[in-house]
Amino acid sequence: MLHAARVYRQLIDRDFKVLKFLEDQAPRYYYVPMEIIVKSLGMTESKCEYTLRKLHKLKLIRARRKPYLGFYINMHGYDALAINALVNRGVIEAIGDKIGVGKESDVYTALTSSGERVAIKFFRIGRLSFKHIQVRRAYYLEAEPRKQLTWIKRSMISARREYRALKRLHPEVSVPRPVAHNRHVVVMGEIYGIPLSDVKDLDDPSYVLELIINNLKKAYEKNIIHADFSHYNVMVTEEGVLLIDWPQYVHRKHPLANEYLRRDVENIVRFFSRKFRINVSSEEVIAYILGSAPQE
Ligand SMILES: Nc1ncnc2c1ncn2[C@@H]1O[C@H](COP(=O)(O)OP(=O)(O)O)[C@@H](O)[C@H]1O
Ligand SMILES: [Mg+2]
Repeated sequence: MLHAARVYRQLIDRDFKVLKFLEDQAPRYYYVPMEIIVKSLGMTESKCEYTLRKLHKLKLIRARRKPYLGFYINMHGYDALAINALVNRGVIEAIGDKIGVGKESDVYTALTSSGERVAIKFFRIGRLSFKHIQVRRAYYLEAEPRKQLTWIKRSMISARREYRALKRLHPEVSVPRPVAHNRHVVVMGEIYGIPLSDVKDLDDPSYVLELIINNLKKAYEKNIIHADFSHYNVMVTEEGVLLIDWPQYVHRKHPLANEYLRRDVENIVRFFSRKFRINVSSEEVIAYILGSAPQE
């Protein structure tokens, strides 16, 4: 189970207020000094200390004693804030089991307030380099500016982009229905199927390839190229296929648009050739996709 979902019910408004403050201050400090938290939130020192100790015990924040007492919000803390926002907006009511792990995300099943099942995708971009940031010691970031965007910033950008792509593509292109997004999280329709990469056999592989190509073409007609496409990002269901994982999409006017499109097509064509002995020409598929683009 998602850690933040497990501890969520123990959290009260005051806890979220402190988490939110740590989030707001994160661009300025590696560890937000205790005195600043107390001063800014207008809580008594003892209430503030109690809350921080609780959040620390629940593993939503990290603490450091030297050279000053300070705290920062970790991945679970950001998850808790995103869940809280989605619950308060009436989007979700409960989070269930993990249903997918990708290169850069964890995906869980969830229930909406109307009892519908949805998928909730938590972006964890660069979770490997996250550790690296934790050991840094600077007090102010200004003194030692971050060379790259933090994992949370990059994850928030990705979530926003994926949600925007789904909004533009759905329902004409077969993609999950966009439901909501907040911070580094996207909520979308749950797919009952399996990734094409895990499929052992297909009744009619040519037909499945045709469905995929037609969806890539429809996306292109909406000016969108997937740009990270492969059999890992196709879900096969009883009804057909769904194309997933869109945060890195590019507009067809992007200077490298044709290269991305070529790579997307070649990946899927190669997969069908190797696995199912279906041989189609990438050139012809690309021409087919480009051919139907609205003329300038
Ligand atoms: N809407 C969904 N419904 C059900 N499972 C999903 C959904 N979206 C993603 N998954 C599962 O989560 C995995 C990772 O999702 P994906 O969007 O490809 O993220 P990543 O960028 O991490 O690869 C997928 O392979 C799939 O198994
Ligand atoms: Mg993927």
